[in-house]
Amino acid sequence: TILILDFGSQYSHLITRRCRELNVYAELQPCTQKIKDVSFKPKGIILSGSPYSVYDQDAPRVDPEVFSLDVPVLGICYGLQEMAWNLGGEVTKCDHREYGFAQLLISKIGSGNSSVDALFEGLGEEMQVWMSHGDQLSAIPEDFHIIGQTDTAPFAAIAHNSKPFYGIQFHPEVTHSPRGREVIGRFVLNICGCKPSWTMEEFIGKEIARIRAICGPKGRVIGAVSGGVDSTVAAKLMHEAIGDRFHAIMVDNGVLRLNEANQVHEMLNKDLGVNLTVVDSSDLFLSRLKDIEDPEQKRKIIGNTFINVFETEAAKIEGTAEEEEKLTGAEAKGRVEWLLQGTLYPDVIESISFKGPSATIKTHHNVGGLLKDMKLKLIEPLRELFKVRALGRLLNIPSHLVQRHPFPGPGLAIRILGPVTRSQVKILQIADNIYIEEIRKAGLYNEISQAFAVLLPVKAVGVMGDKRTYEQVIALRAVQSEDFMTADWYVFPPEVLRRISSRITNEVEGINRVTYDISSKPPATVEWL
Ligand code: XMP
Repeated sequence: TILILDFGSQYSHLITRRCRELNVYAELQPCTQKIKDVSFKPKGIILSGSPYSVYDQDAPRVDPEVFSLDVPVLGICYGLQEMAWNLGGEVTKCDHREYGFAQLLISKIGSGNSSVDALFEGLGEEMQVWMSHGDQLSAIPEDFHIIGQTDTAPFAAIAHNSKPFYGIQFHPEVTHSPRGREVIGRFVLNICGCKPSWTMEEFIGKEIARIRAICGPKGRVIGAVSGGVDSTVAAKLMHEAIGDRFHAIMVDNGVLRLNEANQVHEMLNKDLGVNLTVVDSSDLFLSRLKDIEDPEQKRKIIGNTFINVFETEAAKIEGTAEEEEKLTGAEAKGRVEWLLQGTLYPDVIESISFKGPSATIKTHHNVGGLLKDMKLKLIEPLRELFKVRALGRLLNIPSHLVQRHPFPGPGLAIRILGPVTRSQVKILQIADNIYIEEIRKAGLYNEISQAFAVLLPVKAVGVMGDKRTYEQVIALRAVQSEDFMTADWYVFPPEVLRRISSRITNEVEGINRVTYDISSKPPATVEWL
């Protein structure tokens, strides 16, 4: 296991992800973590970047114990500076904040000890790297030497003369450092000596065994499914582990995509054999959403209503204690004790990482409230994973499902600007369906990370069959993104956009204009609300 200490950089999770992509198990902990309290013995430690400066009064500090554990340490950006600060180097503010590409010249000057320069072994003499920092080293600590330099950073990469301590100013974890993965690989595999043995096949076997052990021979589990990749994969995994003792509930909240509830039923129940109840609660949701325009208000209403509906349905599945008691032998299925959550590692990170100054942009988690009242224990089979597609494939979930674009919990309610009504939902469903259909036909679906239509409740003038029209506008959004923290708008071939626009204006009553959203994230977000 590699221990990654998070000093609050926006990229810390990517370091963990890169290690795991190398099939090496890595865990992120806040930088305030005391080494003596870590529950495992790390084979190596990585110190992340940070929005702070090491000389700030309130700068986060590493436990100095890190440097006396006798395990390799890699400091990245602030991690480098923190390492140097601890071991006697100097850090100063740059004249200019450096943000962007730099060319790293890999030094041949070394101590002659090959393990010391192992970080860049075989990576050539130069590589492109991504920088994002306001401070840099102005003097290296004693017993260190330079292993890489850039035009502006004479100490861009350093290594200890005899111990396996390394510091790099650039960010190997971001894709803008094209050989960054290899640098992390050199550290984790060669220097720390980790074996690439944390594979998905192994994960499935262990996880199924773990679920069976937790639930025992009778324990029952319920869980919500949405048709999204995460909940589908979680449900299928539970089904593999405990069969019909897992019961899935799908809530139709009235703001799903066209025919979504039917399709999910078809896929989960018929194709994958998962025990499933679909509940149509669209009237309740839409009545509570009446006249609500504020996006966060919409999220809150949908989240809370979901909890109400789910609890009611769960109680029906569970049956009363008396009913359970009457059942004997094989019939006695046991009480529902567990709630399945499709929590992924990024959510786990969210809750454990070191919080620098940060603001809530949107509240994304809608089912967090379920546990408070339900007295169920939580089961989270995906909590060690960054993404689930590979797992889905191994579980034989059909590829068109595994490749599905994400769909937010509050659904079309956050894609209808202004109040949500049944007629607005209908308009958006039809437009969205045409859009996705055409993207699939053009063979572009898997190239795009997420695509959807947005309904703008502004009216514009048009002309149709010699008549004046005065109708609403559909905005199309399509983005490419690795993790949805940042995203670029997708460049469509013009003929595809033309076809989509013409179909939407012809086939969707109430729409006479289609626009394409050309904003990236940041400064925009993926969803409009
Ligand atoms: P934003 O709009 O924040 O979206 O750039 C990033 C990703 O998150 C999804 N999203 C949500 N998912 N509940 C969800 O389950 C939400 O309230 C929510 N808001 C945004 C969005 O679709 C994109 O994939």
